[in-house]
Amino acid sequence: MKSILVLLSATAALAQQSAWGQCGGIGWTGATTCVEGYVCTVDGDYYSQCIPGVAASSTTSPTPTTVVGSASTTLSGGSSSASGPGTTLQSGYYWIRAVESPNFHKYLQSRPLYSPGDAVLDSYTTAGQFQIISGQLVQLINSTYTLYANVQQNTTAATKLSMSFNATENTYGTFAFSGDAVTWSTPDINRPNLSAWLVCENQTLWINLGNYAYLTPAGCVDETIHYYNDQTAVGRREVKLEG
Ligand SMILES: *[C@@H]1O[C@H](CO)[C@@H](O)[C@H](O)[C@H]1NC(C)=O
Ligand SMILES: *[C@@H]1O[C@H](CO)[C@@H](O)[C@H](O)[C@H]1NC(C)=O
Ligand SMILES: *[C@@H]1O[C@H](CO)[C@@H](O)[C@H](O)[C@H]1NC(C)=O
Ligand SMILES: *[C@@H]1O[C@H](CO)[C@@H](O)[C@H](O)[C@H]1NC(C)=O
Ligand SMILES: *[C@@H]1O[C@H](CO)[C@@H](O)[C@H](O)[C@H]1NC(C)=O
Repeated sequence: MKSILVLLSATAALAQQSAWGQCGGIGWTGATTCVEGYVCTVDGDYYSQCIPGVAASSTTSPTPTTVVGSASTTLSGGSSSASGPGTTLQSGYYWIRAVESPNFHKYLQSRPLYSPGDAVLDSYTTAGQFQIISGQLVQLINSTYTLYANVQQNTTAATKLSMSFNATENTYGTFAFSGDAVTWSTPDINRPNLSAWLVCENQTLWINLGNYAYLTPAGCVDETIHYYNDQTAVGRREVKLEG
């Protein structure tokens, strides 16, 4: 029997992103153009969103729509191809998000998405789903795979501790909910505020060993993070008018 091999072009056009969807940012491998009536708008290095509007150059002259110099057709090997639990909250899990500026309604997730890596606060469209079980902050990936928030061991001069997601359980400290706020504690550190977190370079999330909003390390902002259990994650839908 003869089999026919069909080779699909790696540069096949991607579908256009729908209203309010993500259309760009570091690590983004999906559509980079928006449906009619929406324009892809940059909101930081890691996130671009389709918001209502028209492209700036679409007045009288029929300008070509070719995007020049776009790197979006390069399928790099470094980005995540893993899939997660989706954008509907699964039973027993929560979204976790910040509610203070400048990370208002940015959601906890791993980078790369759904894979071991840094804990970051980023777009609601890629929000992770979490639960705290026996002191572990557990990220749901699928029915057979979960990740655990792992905290870096304290060092003598540390003012903040990094957090990553890992396939193995955390061995340092205990996560808990205090009201809707996520806390982390360990008997060997006397933290003034157990729900004090920091968001630093590239949206990475850190445990703040100091007071909330006091001696904030350079390049970081203070945040508390909270669970949210509506069926879908809700993002900031604010249009920045610049200039
Ligand atoms: C769950 O995710 C892991 C890691 O991405 C993957 O290897 C595995 O095939 C997935 N299992 C199911 C049932 O989807
Ligand atoms: C996972 O945990 C192991 C052991 O603590 C550590 O060596 C490794 O760097 C961790 N990986 C990630 C991605 O955090
Ligand atoms: C742990 O962190 C605290 C708070 O920053 C610090 O004062 C202490 O020296 C650290 N302990 C160890 C054993 O490194
Ligand atoms: C920690 O800081 C946050 C933000 O200022 C505040 O809402 C919370 O009440 C503080 N918690 C404690 C125990 O002081
Ligand atoms: C932030 O991201 C950039 C681009 O990916 C990278 O070069 C840089 O090392 C990152 N910084 C940190 C602290 O992770």
